[in-house]
Amino acid sequence: MYFREILGMEVAGERGDSVYLRAFGDYERASLKLTTAAQSGIGHIAYRTHSPEALERRVGVLQANGVAGEWTDGDLGHGAAYSFHDPDGHRFELFYESERYQVPPELRPALKNQPHRYPGRGVGVRHLDHVNFLAVDPAEDRVFLEQNLGLRLTEQIVLDDGTEAGVWLASNQKSYDVTYTRDQTRTRGRLHHVAFFVDQREDVLRGADIFLEHGIVMESGPHKHAIQQTFFLYTWEPGGNRIEICAGGFLIFAPDHEPVVWSQAERAKGQAWGMQTVASFHIKGSPPVPEEDVLLAAHGR
Ligand SMILES: [Fe+2]
Repeated sequence: MYFREILGMEVAGERGDSVYLRAFGDYERASLKLTTAAQSGIGHIAYRTHSPEALERRVGVLQANGVAGEWTDGDLGHGAAYSFHDPDGHRFELFYESERYQVPPELRPALKNQPHRYPGRGVGVRHLDHVNFLAVDPAEDRVFLEQNLGLRLTEQIVLDDGTEAGVWLASNQKSYDVTYTRDQTRTRGRLHHVAFFVDQREDVLRGADIFLEHGIVMESGPHKHAIQQTFFLYTWEPGGNRIEICAGGFLIFAPDHEPVVWSQAERAKGQAWGMQTVASFHIKGSPPVPEEDVLLAAHGR
């Protein structure tokens, strides 16, 4: 209901306890796999490599660096994948073979450069944008992804004590596709949010009205992030995961882009236009843990 009717995604397949969903701009068969589970959280994130050779190279690097991993047969929509965990315990997959989306007649778009027709239903998200993990030590995961996957750090928060409270990394010209922010409950392997892209800020505002009508919890926004400048709205889907819809941001064209470093004092100014983010945003993740309640109580919530 949330993903199909409210976000406007389409069901791309079902297998076992899982349903596979896609947005109208996703070129692959699916961008989101939802699986029945006892608790909320993220099962894994998957990156597609540029070529079969690139996949072999990455696996070679992981193995040379002593990272434990294993090949799997793949999944609905993609072929053999190499599975491993980041230092915080989130599961990653790398694959190359991917099923290009075959559009059924009823979803054929008017313009052939679009995978399926604009839904005209709900928010109308275009594509999966990024995943934000929580981590006990974001710096540890940043180094891991830089060294093993060749991801590029584009922005980060460095606190006065020198520790990294947040890191934003990119695999392409998008300014970020994976983010780690510090888990204040000091729990490993949790999810902060998954984000889907919409074309314009107005789509986010329209989305807010749609969420309101459906009784969906809106936690923060609409507003503009200082970091990465994304226009955002955070909601909680019924399964207990935080989902962002976002617009704007920017691309990075400089091959020698220097990471932008945000200080503790700069972060204390709040978001781009001064809004202070609600305490729950910095504390809650999925799956929930009891330590969240202790921290929220300390914030008077
Ligand atoms: Fe985000």
